[in-house]
Amino acid sequence: MVTKVGKKVSEFYNKSPFPDFSLDRFNSKEDLRITAYPFAKILDRSIPEDASIIDVGTGTGQLSALLSLRRKNVWGIDFSEGSLKKAIALKNKYKLDSYHLKIVDILDVDQIRSVGQKFDYVLCMGVLHHTGDTYGAFKNILELVKPGGCICIGLYNRYGRIPLKIRILLARTIFKNNDRVKEWFIRMQIGDVKDKERARGWWNDQFEHPHETTHTVGEVNKWFRKHGVEFFETVPSTVMFENPDFEVSGVWNQSKRPNLMVRIFKQFKWIWSTHHEGGYWLTFGRYIGDVENGDGKKSYKRE
Ligand SMILES: C[S@@+](CC[C@H](N)C(=O)[O-])C[C@H]1O[C@@H](n2cnc3c(N)ncnc32)[C@H](O)[C@@H]1O
Repeated sequence: MVTKVGKKVSEFYNKSPFPDFSLDRFNSKEDLRITAYPFAKILDRSIPEDASIIDVGTGTGQLSALLSLRRKNVWGIDFSEGSLKKAIALKNKYKLDSYHLKIVDILDVDQIRSVGQKFDYVLCMGVLHHTGDTYGAFKNILELVKPGGCICIGLYNRYGRIPLKIRILLARTIFKNNDRVKEWFIRMQIGDVKDKERARGWWNDQFEHPHETTHTVGEVNKWFRKHGVEFFETVPSTVMFENPDFEVSGVWNQSKRPNLMVRIFKQFKWIWSTHHEGGYWLTFGRYIGDVENGDGKKSYKRE
């Protein structure tokens, strides 16, 4: 059953698919690569070509379509028909046969199971905090990871999001009728506003969203521990001595559970350092899987 929040959020994304684009922007498969945002390129480089991938809450599918160019089995799921329509248009335009799209509400575990397979990599970026039940949705998507498979989740940080919340308040009150200030706010996040579709999509997603929640690294750490996910690293990093030549390939195989004090200190720093991204951060991990103990209880084993 669709929840009240789910109904509001899917209606919102039906009207304002994210990240929005005009299909004319893509004239060849190469354009998908060229126009990909930097982090999408890093993911594409760091995930092996023979891996199966599912992008949960794929939106308009720019990331999943890109990942499918070099791989045999890439899925994108989302509950917004309006967003998936754009993803389907991309798939059809370039005849991306290894790219599969399906309408799925991740709060409904039966819909998740209807995907019918588990994946080597599960990506879920900027989605869980819009569901109304972040933890419940996180638990559900673990159904999609193979034991030993990798997971990446992107969330808004409780501290890092504070400056954006202040900008939202200003945009709704004293600068309500000031388009120049609003444009400046959105430029802070995406650099330029020449691509009108993209700028409008970002504005709606960041400033007009009907439902979002914020979370801490400690919360995710707890969820991971409870459900047999080994904690690799966060981006931005929450360890003391981070690698200055950051390479995401390192993130998929390094266990760097952050120390409590360092983690708190770093998240406070995010108030300033991630304010352009609206306090968005990623956590990487590996699903070890539940193991039956024989006494009916479940726990998990580390390798
Ligand atoms: C901010 S967009 C992120 C799109 C894409 N992952 C990205 O990073 O650009 C959030 C997406 O999550 C989807 N979403 C939110 N709640 C969902 C749910 N319960 N089930 C499936 N998708 C959901 C929305 O439809 C939307 O496309």
